[in-house]
Order: sequence, then C-alpha cells, then structure tokens
Amino acid sequence: MKKIFIKTFGCQMNVYDSNRMLDALAPHGYENSDDIESADLILLNTCHIREKASEKVFSEIGRTKEVQQRRKELGKETIIGVAGCVAQAQGEEIMKRAPAVDLVFGPQSYHRLPDMVERAKTKRVIDTDFPEEDKFNFLPKPQQAVTKKRGLTAFLTVQEGCDKFCSFCVVPYTRGVEQSRPVEQILAEAKDLVLGGVKEITLLGQNVNAYHGGDALDQSASLSKLLHKLANIDGLERIRYTTSHPNDMGDDLIAAHRDLPQLMPYLHLPVQSGSNKILKSMNRSHTGEEYIELIERIREARPDIAISGDFIVGFPDESDKDFEDTLDLIKKVKYSSAYSFKYSPRPGTPGALMKNQVPEKVRVERLARLQILLNQQQGEFNHNAVGKIMPVLIDKKGRIEGQIGGRSPYLQAVHFNAPENLIGLIRNVKIISGDRHSLKGELILNDGEEKT
Ligand code: 5AD
Ligand code: SF4
Repeated sequence: MKKIFIKTFGCQMNVYDSNRMLDALAPHGYENSDDIESADLILLNTCHIREKASEKVFSEIGRTKEVQQRRKELGKETIIGVAGCVAQAQGEEIMKRAPAVDLVFGPQSYHRLPDMVERAKTKRVIDTDFPEEDKFNFLPKPQQAVTKKRGLTAFLTVQEGCDKFCSFCVVPYTRGVEQSRPVEQILAEAKDLVLGGVKEITLLGQNVNAYHGGDALDQSASLSKLLHKLANIDGLERIRYTTSHPNDMGDDLIAAHRDLPQLMPYLHLPVQSGSNKILKSMNRSHTGEEYIELIERIREARPDIAISGDFIVGFPDESDKDFEDTLDLIKKVKYSSAYSFKYSPRPGTPGALMKNQVPEKVRVERLARLQILLNQQQGEFNHNAVGKIMPVLIDKKGRIEGQIGGRSPYLQAVHFNAPENLIGLIRNVKIISGDRHSLKGELILNDGEEKT
C-alpha cells in the first residue's frame, strides 16, 4: 500500500473534498496516513478566501519540500500536489515559484487524480480546467469501513460555486458558477453514509440554499424538497446545512425548520455588515432591515433556532457609523456564534479596486470590538442553556478522565461524566453550567440504568 498525507486548509467543503480525493485514490492502492514522513504522495488542499489563508500555501510547500528531500536521501520518491482554490487561482504561479511541486489541480478535477498522479511521476501536471463531465459521476464511494472510521457526523456537498458575486469574494472565480448535484445522487450518497454508521449529515454548498438539483419529476428541486427526502432515510437522525445566503431563504425552507424534526435548530446565515451603504457596495442585494425581518420569520417558524453568522469589518469606505450599524444589527439579532474577519482585498474582485480602503489599524480595532460583542452573545446563549435537557450526539471521549462529549442540537459542545460505551448514541443531558466555549451537563439515566 502507498501512503497519502493530505493537509486541508479552509472550509468544510475542502474537508469533504479531501475525503473524496482519498476515496478516488483508494482503488489505486493508496491509503491515508497521518505521518507525513511516510507519505509517497503529499497533497495540500488549499484555501484562497483571505490573503492569510493563501499565503500559508507557499510556506507549507517549503516545509513539504524538506520532507521530499529527506525521503530522497532514503531512496524514496515523493509526489507533491497542490489542490483546492489557490491551485485554481494561482496554478501557473505555483508551478513557476515552486519547482518541488509535481501536480497542481483545481476543485473540479479531483476525479482525475489517479491518472494525474501516474503522469506526475514523469512530468509535472497542471489541471485547472472546469471540465464538462460531472466529477461526482466518476468518484468511487468510500468503503464502509472507511466511513465508519470517519465518525458519526459527515459532510455531503450538494452544491458548488456561486453566482452572487459579492464584491469582496473570490469564490465565484475559484469555484465557478453555481451547480447543484442531482437529488438521486445525493440520496444515494446519504444512504451509504448512514449504512456506514453516520448519524448526522451536514449538507454543504457555498450557497447551499440556492440548491436546485433535478430529480426524476422535478428539474429544479429546492433545498427544502431535498431535506424532506433526506428526512425519510431511516437512521439519519440529524441534518444540517451550510452556508446560506439571506436572499435564498425561501418560505418552503423556513417551513422545513418548523416541520422536520431531523433538521437541527441551527442556521448559519451570514449578513457580513449591518450598514445598508456597505451591503450595497458589497453587492449583497438586501438591506439590514430585510435581514432582521427574515430572522424574525425564521424564529416564528422555529422559536429556539440558534443563529450564526459571518461578518467582515473594514470593507472599503466603512465609516465609524457604518461599523456602529453592524454592532446594532448584532444586538438585535443575538447570535449564538459567529465568524468575523478583517476585510482582505482579493485580487480580481471589485472590492480590491475600490477607493477608501480602511487602514489596517482601524480594521484591527473594529474587529476587536466586534468580537467582544459576539463573544458576549455566545456566552449568553450558552448560559441560557443551563437547566435545559438536550439530546446530545455523543461522539468522543472528553479531555478529562471519565468524561464523554458531543454536540447539542444547537451545535454547542457538551461534556459530561458517563461511560465510554455511550459514544455513538444520542442521549438526553441536563445542562448544569456553560461558558463561552462549551456546556457541562449530567446524563439523564434511562429506566434501570445506574450512575457510574
Ligand atoms: N475578506 C474578509 N473576509 C472574507 N470572507 C470572504 N471573502 C472575504 C474577504 N475578501 C468571509 C465572509 C464569508 C466567509 C466565508 O469569509 O464573511 O462569509
Ligand atoms: Fe462569496 Fe458567499 Fe457572496 Fe457567493 S454569496 S460571492 S460565496 S460571500
């Protein structure tokens, strides 16, 4: 067996892609390894979303090159491949700047990986096309034992790319136009995951709620239709989806949050800014008021839903007042968690060319203020859980001896004392304390069960 070491940067979609790359190579005699020194093939699955993320790639290539040299001294060959969004956007540059790299390929061509690796043994390979064929039709499914090893929760990409062209974002350029996978293909993959022991599936897409994959009867099935079909799969206990755009939050999808018990009460719905001026120049196509009104409608359908979001501070021309508007919006919405970033001008996007770029010092200050507020809200959200009983999907041992841990429906980390043989189950836990990071609880015992 040959060994592959994959280092994954960036979003959950890359985590999913890395697994599918392993699946593509498995029938060709490759297996995953956590030890880079033993790897015949090293893949870096990269992220281009912000400057920091893509800068990391070149330093990582440097480190990988050292491994390649050490192995060479032992008489072993090592192929180095760069995948993902930096490969897509800067493939030629990587080939030029990094002679140690044998293989560069974008997110749409990893089904060709076995062939590319073979060719890379004799000649450097670059493949950053957007191929005609659907890669998912060519990817082998993982062996059940592999799925079991990957754990109780799994990602499943249902949609890729984006047509929204927010003016700060590289995704429409690196991942291409919006494309949805057919319903039947997704259902088959989900059923296989469940047979491999998966209890929770998170549907992924850059713009997942714009999903419109065809099925036998309907050429544009919506995300809510897909969710209803997934909810019929026996053994699939929890469904989540991410990431969504406010303008694609249709009434049917909101109703699914009311009607489907398997759909977890958690929604990641980025707004980026609370200022209408900035939202307009970000090309988000909605106002702050419309977003808040949407959140109200979602909360009417599912009152306990946890709302999470993404924020960018320091977008060009963001004034103190615009920033205050963002803080106000956050205070109105009350987030359970959120990701926040300093604006990072990305080459090729309209934002990078805009006048009045905000000085770094101001961006840093605003980010710190924003994060204080968001952290406080996250702490409050967790504190409000105290006293409640929640089903927890138990997926690991805790850090402290005798503890096990898992996730609440609201995606909070929960730890409690209980025997390890409960790992893999969903059990009710009474929450006894909570801080910003996690909750502590007590297992609710079933009839006849004894406390350990
Ligand atoms: N600068 C800063 N943050 C960005 N994001 C996307 N592009 C940029 C950028 N150029 C953030 C957005 C998005 C998340 C995935 O990353 O908040 O929702
Ligand atoms: Fe990028 Fe999301 Fe905007 Fe699409 S909707 S351009 S992925 S931020």
